[in-house]
Amino acid sequence: MMSTRHFLTLLDLSPDELKQLIQRAIELKQMRNQGVIYEPFKNRVMAMIFEKASTRTRVSFEAGMAQFGGHAMFLSPRDTQLGRGEPVEDSARVISSMVDIVMIRTFSHALVEQFAAYSSVPVINALTDDFHPCQLLADMQTFQELRGDIRGSTVAWIGDGNNMCHSYINAARQFDFKLNIACPEGFEPNSDLVARNADRVSVMEAPEDAVKGVDLVVTDVWASMGQENEQRQRMREFRGYQVNPELMDLASRDALFMHCLPAHRGEEVSESMMDDPRCVAFPEAENRLHAQKALIEFLLHHLIVN
Ligand code: CP
Ligand code: NVA
Repeated sequence: MMSTRHFLTLLDLSPDELKQLIQRAIELKQMRNQGVIYEPFKNRVMAMIFEKASTRTRVSFEAGMAQFGGHAMFLSPRDTQLGRGEPVEDSARVISSMVDIVMIRTFSHALVEQFAAYSSVPVINALTDDFHPCQLLADMQTFQELRGDIRGSTVAWIGDGNNMCHSYINAARQFDFKLNIACPEGFEPNSDLVARNADRVSVMEAPEDAVKGVDLVVTDVWASMGQENEQRQRMREFRGYQVNPELMDLASRDALFMHCLPAHRGEEVSESMMDDPRCVAFPEAENRLHAQKALIEFLLHHLIVN
């Protein structure tokens, strides 16, 4: 019997599956560094639906499929019927009948869920307004490579309670770490999600309290895609939430700093922090490639085996 697995949030894989996936990502990275050609997905096609901009996500999925011997197809609402109001259900049935796997970056998380419900092939959430699980695979791989198992560690999230913050809450649960979240009033993460993970997650106001002694500090832009018109007001509200070397000095001695990028230097992160040896944002970005290749392999193998 065929069973289709999707990856819409980190909760779609079990903690064991996630752990294995990170190990596999590290292996695939080594293979690529050694020049090993590994093409298990010849003739396999990925449809990539982008309703928001992207650099890392598009390049990593497209390169990953090519390295696997397959192909990735870029679809934007500007040139497909999706942008002209064709129902998501119809689009999902048609697109999934012709390709092997689908990746979607869009605004509404419900749209991705709906697409997945009507898709006959695996669907990957490549960022919605609510979650960005692919980024967390890369972040967890990066921590594993540089510091070992994250289980039992403490992570500080500084800034907006946004899609990345929500995925960090899910990661705290699935990878078993503690998460301190420092947000200005009115920009806290979803309260139900926080309540469901209250054993691991604490929300506070002062960044200085959140970073004290932690092993990893993470931030993200103050205005996400779709919030461009709030940029100026957010700049005022988030003042005091910049991650810089002085704030990092309150964390543990070997703490790392991550940022999913793109970074706005002088806003959520200082120029000096991006150049600081504790900043691992670039290896983190590269790991999008390796972690998502492990994800594609997991989802396509599951489809074949079951
Ligand atoms: N971090 C991330 O998802 O980057 P892009 O928006 O460039 O894909
Ligand atoms: N929170 C950001 C992440 C970008 C990768 C956004 O949604 O724009």
